[in-house]
Amino acid sequence: MKKSFFDHIIHGGDYNPDQWINTPEIWDEDMRLMKLAHINSATVGIFSWSMLEPEEGVYNFEFLDKILDELHENGIDVILSTPSGARPAWLAQKYPEVLRVEETGIRNEYGVRHNHCLTSPVYREKVRNINTKLAERYKDHPAVKMWHISNEYCGECHCDLCQEAFRDWLKEYYHNDLEELNFKWWNGFWAHRMTDWSQINSPKFRGENHVSAMKLCWNRFVSDSHISFFENEIAPLREITPNIPVTTNFMKMYDGIDYQKFAKHLDLVSWDNYPAWDKGYNEAEACDIAFVHDTFRSMNDGKPFFMMESTTSLVNWHDVNKLPRPRLQSLSAIQAVAHGADSVQYFQWRKSRGGHEKYHGAVVDHCGHEHTRVFREVSDLGAQLEKLSDVIGEKSNSKVAVVYDWENGWAIKHFCGYNNINRKYFEECVKWYKPFWQNGLSVDIISMEEDFSKYDLVIAPFLYMLKNGTIERIESYVKNGGNFITTYLSGLVDENDLCYLGGFPANELKDVFGIWCEETDSLPEGIKNAVIYNSKEYSVEHVCDIIHANGSTSLGEYQKDFYAGMPAITENKYGNGTAYYVAFRNDEDFSIDFCNDIISKLNISPDTSIDAENGVIIRKRGDVIFLMNFSDNEKRINLDHSYTDILADVSINGQIIIKPCSYIILK
Ligand code: GLA
Ligand code: ZN
Repeated sequence: MKKSFFDHIIHGGDYNPDQWINTPEIWDEDMRLMKLAHINSATVGIFSWSMLEPEEGVYNFEFLDKILDELHENGIDVILSTPSGARPAWLAQKYPEVLRVEETGIRNEYGVRHNHCLTSPVYREKVRNINTKLAERYKDHPAVKMWHISNEYCGECHCDLCQEAFRDWLKEYYHNDLEELNFKWWNGFWAHRMTDWSQINSPKFRGENHVSAMKLCWNRFVSDSHISFFENEIAPLREITPNIPVTTNFMKMYDGIDYQKFAKHLDLVSWDNYPAWDKGYNEAEACDIAFVHDTFRSMNDGKPFFMMESTTSLVNWHDVNKLPRPRLQSLSAIQAVAHGADSVQYFQWRKSRGGHEKYHGAVVDHCGHEHTRVFREVSDLGAQLEKLSDVIGEKSNSKVAVVYDWENGWAIKHFCGYNNINRKYFEECVKWYKPFWQNGLSVDIISMEEDFSKYDLVIAPFLYMLKNGTIERIESYVKNGGNFITTYLSGLVDENDLCYLGGFPANELKDVFGIWCEETDSLPEGIKNAVIYNSKEYSVEHVCDIIHANGSTSLGEYQKDFYAGMPAITENKYGNGTAYYVAFRNDEDFSIDFCNDIISKLNISPDTSIDAENGVIIRKRGDVIFLMNFSDNEKRINLDHSYTDILADVSINGQIIIKPCSYIILK
């Protein structure tokens, strides 16, 4: 079986030669510099529509023909983009329906990008047409290795076409039965009963915005609209170029699209990685980004993922764009590869001369030559990546999974009650991921629909909403020997955001965890409770479930308030497995100590037996071991036997030192 689409790590990024159409010497210089920088791939055509179709139905592929040939002659592969992310002015002028209507109900004017209606039949047709032309023209071009569909799909449209599409979506979801919708949205509340589908509109600030079930449906609908827009885009590509894989670039944990669902439509998942290093170079950011990489790696089981964009130095869209310290971007790139990325790509190859992004980092600066710190770094990294082809297609074999579920994130965002200002779903999931990350253990990040049975341990923090079948799946996982941890406010509602009756957590989960949650307390900022676990006191903030241990064993109790002495952490043997309930929002110390105990109890061994000082992050991919130091200090590492340092090409053993902001790669 082919492990990946390539046999080497892709090193390249967004290339916009169409901005330099009148300066052919720049194109020639680009070829020379790309080779110097060990660039092997260029993503071309992302925003080229007005160049490719200057007038309706009039196509001009001259520049693309030329640049594709040039890239090929210079040994550089092409990831060819479809241009739907930004449209020509003539198109918007002639067919205003292609422009997006914002939540205010006002249609946008032509401008910026990503500004299109997701439903408009005209836009879909125009996109299909240009994509067909591209596919026909370049289907046999030897440089073209992959399709990059559009750019960072995002946003939503509230035009009449989209309203009608939303109603159609609801009809399908609720079996054409308005009474089912009335029940599931609990429309008896505030006299909301609908008597005709036409009474339903998208959620709006000046309209309906208090029906959480409806907002969930809107999220699902918008997400599905992006997917169907994508399917429309790729239909001609699948037909004309069935062997060229497709991807589209995702944006971190952007919550406007259910990426876990979308990923199933892609040959390869890719995402754009812009760590906020400039807000402080720190381990916390490294951990967040590690979590995100693992999310994308886990999304398309067995298929490769790409880091489609990153910056070589600074971005231009933070309030203050601080330069990252030298080599930090290389460390960040190596982190991506360590977590499973088969590519290191940048936005952008060359800084544009004008326009909004002219001060955004690039490989080639306005000075135009290679004698810059950034260029040298990129080119050194490129040479290093050439030594890492062994990792292509290799996956880690995780024994632990953290559930981060897009739809659950929506439901958590929408409900009103308890602690309304401290939801923090992402942060909570990262908090439970961190102990494993620090211990050199690979973790999969999965939706609640994935198969739990392959893991020794599944942690589902804040599992507020349960999609159909989740209760049964948790039950059978634990019964068959699995270990499951969940936390406060879990198992409250079904997928329509209707509360489970009969006490929380829902139905059989009360038996699985051996608890019943009677009330939930919320703590304002600055007010804390405490829990004692293994004779150590930990602080409690934001949320505390007041639970009864019905059959489970209490491992720690609250120390304050009227529920002092009541269980806060429970352990329950259920069938052959064990279920833990952590009833409060814990500090980081607690999840680290608690998870370390579970790791030893379950005998989950780290992926390598290298012994390193705290702060060295170890990550194994196939046979290759990545050691990364995101801290400010030198760290010691004790090797258990002799290894090859792949980048230095020497054999090493015994104690070694890893400098701050650096990495060592061993085999
Ligand atoms: C996004 C876009 C790029 C560019 C970068 C800037 O990721 O996809 O076109 O705008 O941001 O950081
Ligand atoms: Zn629309």
